[in-house]
Amino acid sequence: MNLRTKALNLLLELSAGPCKCPAHSSANFFPVSSQLSSNEKEYAFEIISPTVRFGPGVTKEVGLDVLNLNLKNVCVITDSNISKLAPLKVTLDSLAKHQVKFEVYDQVRIEPNEESFKQAARFAIGSNFDGFIAVGGGSVIDTAKAANLYSSYPHADFLDFVNSPLGKGKTIDKPLKPLIAIPTTSGSGSETTAAAIFDYTPKKAKTGIQGRYLRPILGLIDPEHVLSLPERVSAYSGFDVFCHALESFTTLPYTERTPRPSNPSQRPTYQGRNPVSDVWAQFALSTLNKYFERSVFHSDDKKARYNMHLAASMAGVGFGNAGVHLCHALAYPIAGMAKNFNPEGYNKDHPIIPHGLSVVVTAPTVFEFTSPACPERHLRAAELLGANVLNAKKDDAGLILSDVIRTYMQKLKIENGIGALGYTEDDVPRLVEGTLPQVSL
Ligand SMILES: NC(=O)c1ccc[n+]([C@@H]2O[C@H](COP(=O)([O-])OP(=O)(O)OC[C@H]3O[C@@H](n4cnc5c(N)ncnc54)[C@H](O)[C@@H]3O)[C@@H](O)[C@H]2O)c1
Ligand SMILES: [Fe+2]
Repeated sequence: MNLRTKALNLLLELSAGPCKCPAHSSANFFPVSSQLSSNEKEYAFEIISPTVRFGPGVTKEVGLDVLNLNLKNVCVITDSNISKLAPLKVTLDSLAKHQVKFEVYDQVRIEPNEESFKQAARFAIGSNFDGFIAVGGGSVIDTAKAANLYSSYPHADFLDFVNSPLGKGKTIDKPLKPLIAIPTTSGSGSETTAAAIFDYTPKKAKTGIQGRYLRPILGLIDPEHVLSLPERVSAYSGFDVFCHALESFTTLPYTERTPRPSNPSQRPTYQGRNPVSDVWAQFALSTLNKYFERSVFHSDDKKARYNMHLAASMAGVGFGNAGVHLCHALAYPIAGMAKNFNPEGYNKDHPIIPHGLSVVVTAPTVFEFTSPACPERHLRAAELLGANVLNAKKDDAGLILSDVIRTYMQKLKIENGIGALGYTEDDVPRLVEGTLPQVSL
């Protein structure tokens, strides 16, 4: 079997498996059994596009947005670091100006876990909030989604909505309160997604909660906020964008997905790559080529930081409709088993491997492996990232792209391999064990 067929077959086999991925797999809002009505391949794709508003200073509109939604008492969720910075101040000033009643919860854990989700939910329960505003990175936005969910289901068991097999995977069957997300990192794209990710500490594994009602109703993409991003946060969260774009551009096409659902409402959000998700992914890749390095090392380079902020949301919409694959699947145990890694610039009292780092650390190897399935796309991605591929051979596509990725990693001072994150060969079996359940990726 040639390499191309082998890689394609493996990807097809994985994509046909039941969804177990916490964050980036197709959200199964319906029981899997009800979707398995046909073994025919998919013939259609659908684009679910969240509402986002981009512009420097756009946060000051949030008070009016809250009034337009007729909200009377909102819960503002942030972390203890952002609570001292401009993004929160601008948000609260706008709420005050428009006489909106609010309370602030600033105890979000960076890389949240089940306890920190529950703590935020306890804050929200009983306060009679009719809306939420998240001001922060993916950790904050995901915590706000969880607080919104559990305050709307105050009697639910925490594991009810957590993805199976760790949780019970129950469907969120009613709309939640409106959530407005104001991202302050250029990374997760959580303002556009329908997932909330956390470390499930009993299993030392990341997992998540998914459901269309978790998605914020509005993302205010204000690039002024990312001017204060520390260098390492800018680098690591930027590599999350990098992998969202690369993976969604090289994931299986929607036409290869089987079985196709019998009811259009059951078409998964992560449908496979399609002409529209390609647009978002390619935009993000060429933006990364122009601005990633500049934005990391020059916090005062407004043009670079603004463009990276836009690219993060664009890549979010792209992967939100296409899906991602191996880098993300491998990242969950890498991040979930973090031992002693303490990155600079992160506000935390516990070891963490930031999500973007856990994702990119395997990327050079991943794309060398996946290249035979669609070498033209791997070459195109390398080109968008700045490589000259004029006379390149398809057989070399994987090596070319992984060299490009390595060059970005070196320039942006990214740790070289999982050994640098504290893992030894003895950890490999558990890392594999944690990866295999991410079937759909
Ligand atoms: N829900 C989803 O679809 C989705 C997708 C990808 C990642 N995630 C999750 O998002 C989390 C990572 O989020 P992230 O990378 O956006 O970062 P983060 O929210 O974890 O924040 C990282 C650090 O940067 C600081 N920070 C944030 N904005 C800042 C600013 N403007 N100025 C100064 N400091 C700032 C924070 O205080 C924190 O110390 C992970 O838990 C990951 O699993 C979720
Ligand atoms: Fe990600």
